[in-house]
Amino acid sequence: MSTPLKIGVLVSGSGSNLQSIITQIENGTIDAEIVCVISNRSDAYGLERAQRHKIPAIHLDHRRFSGREAYDVALVETLREYGVRLVVLAGFMRIVTPVLLNAFPHAVLNIHPALLPAFPGLHAQQQALDYGVRLTGCTVHFVDAGTDTGPIIIQAAVPVLPGDTEESLSARIQTEEHRIYPAAVRMFAEGRLSVNGRTVTIAPHPATPTGSLENPAVEPPA
Ligand code: GRF
Repeated sequence: MSTPLKIGVLVSGSGSNLQSIITQIENGTIDAEIVCVISNRSDAYGLERAQRHKIPAIHLDHRRFSGREAYDVALVETLREYGVRLVVLAGFMRIVTPVLLNAFPHAVLNIHPALLPAFPGLHAQQQALDYGVRLTGCTVHFVDAGTDTGPIIIQAAVPVLPGDTEESLSARIQTEEHRIYPAAVRMFAEGRLSVNGRTVTIAPHPATPTGSLENPAVEPPA
């Protein structure tokens, strides 16, 4: 039997996406282990979630370092100590540098609350409201050197409804985030993702249904 994929999750806040991945690992949908959760903020609720699930929770304060590269050197050191093979950014509010990306080539994932390439950067939900789009959503992508520019793995579309606020739209998008992020992590853990330039190819899963809103469709549990 092969050993489960070792995942390190980086958070800065609530960690609800972290939670959705923990849940699917614990119920056996994803064959992986979260070996550490690291936060640049000591008050990130994500650290508490990790502790509750007996996952090492580490506060790595960015203010102790001279700059982004120096911080990422420490991140890489810690992730390697735990044997991490996949880095999952889950609401990690820092720009990562090539120091991290080169240490984990094609093995750093991020989730963004918009249908990229629309509305990269901060306040993506408010950007969507301001622009007046009818559909927005969320995107899981490999991280590259740009801001929210890496190859796309999975997206889910969410309607913008009359009277939506940043909060109400964000909540609707988060429901989808909690479906597609674990789905992408599962695809990675199953070794089904390959990257060629901007294109991510996903090896088919026998139980993949068709006709869903997501592209590709989220798979049912095994
Ligand atoms: C999510 O909206 C995600 O799209 C963005 O940061 C937020 C993190 O939320 N990158 P949580 O900490 O997982 O609850």
